[in-house]
Amino acid sequence: MKIYDLRSDTITRPSGEMRKAMHKAEVGDDVYGEDPTVNLLEETAAKMTGKKAALFVPSGSMGNLIPLYVQCGRGNEVILHENSHIMHYELASAATIAGVMPRPVPGERGILTPEAIRPHLRPDIYYMARTGLIEIENTHNKEGGTCWTEDELSAIHRFAKKHDIPVHLDGARVFNAAVHTGIPVKKICSYVDTVTFCLSKGLGAPVGSLLCGDSEFIDEARRIRKMLGGGMRQVGILAAAGLYALEHNIDRLREDHLNAKKLAEVLNNVSWAKVDPDSVETNILFATIPDGNAAAVSSALKKKGVLCSGDGNRLRFVTSMEVSSQDIREACDIIAALKI
Ligand SMILES: Cc1ncc(COP(=O)(O)O)c(C=O)c1O
Repeated sequence: MKIYDLRSDTITRPSGEMRKAMHKAEVGDDVYGEDPTVNLLEETAAKMTGKKAALFVPSGSMGNLIPLYVQCGRGNEVILHENSHIMHYELASAATIAGVMPRPVPGERGILTPEAIRPHLRPDIYYMARTGLIEIENTHNKEGGTCWTEDELSAIHRFAKKHDIPVHLDGARVFNAAVHTGIPVKKICSYVDTVTFCLSKGLGAPVGSLLCGDSEFIDEARRIRKMLGGGMRQVGILAAAGLYALEHNIDRLREDHLNAKKLAEVLNNVSWAKVDPDSVETNILFATIPDGNAAAVSSALKKKGVLCSGDGNRLRFVTSMEVSSQDIREACDIIAALKI
């Protein structure tokens, strides 16, 4: 049976061409700063995000944890969206490792506005924790791959500057955001102090994320990466995959977005699911299962070869280069024919 894997874009496997680039990579000991391919990847990431420096980290989770540790600081609070990846899927590392208190805030489509944040800012009173960081997510995973507009980014930037609070962007899928909105990645990142983006999601590399910021921050981040066990040696072999991804796999994200729209239209026409196709912006979509039995629906789909993930009374579908437009048409036929 053919499998249509729509659980996540993290399932993407390195292509033949990417593997060739990995094979040819020049390597050295990156803990000594001597891996030329890692150095090139870090310089490339810094240029693309408009930041002074960048650091290759093993995962998006580490790329989010380090700024919590460095920028926010122990005993302080980080303001973030209540459905952010940090709140739900990073094992409370903010609290257990960075010593930071999360201050979750609601916001439609995953967007944090100054009005929503203002009541959560701590006044300067000696018996209260300080607000040390604002963290935003673009695209927003759990809110359905939603993107920030430039006005929304600019509003949070002005607010944070006024209160002298740094902003970290979890930009695991910031390239999806740029492709959808047309706002260049560099422009998006100009509204934040630090940003993490992932190579190992829709961009198709097997491992790795880049944490970008000013030089002083990255120097400190490098120390914390080592402390966390993330100092890597001849890792140019993975950096080469990242460089390949940044050169070849950004524009094609558009195809993933179109495929997600197609899926949404089909899901919106079956009796057992509800989706607003207009709300689908990038490669992630959630279908509400009105009778609440998402697990039963996902196992019925699995029996026909269509894999997705359950999230309460919702199913999540994520498109990626592993599932071509032709595959999506076939998956849509299976979905349309499924009787629950
Ligand atoms: C929005 C977001 N941030 C961070 C991460 C963490 O990335 P990693 O799995 O590489 O730790 C993910 C992973 O899916 C994510 O979706």
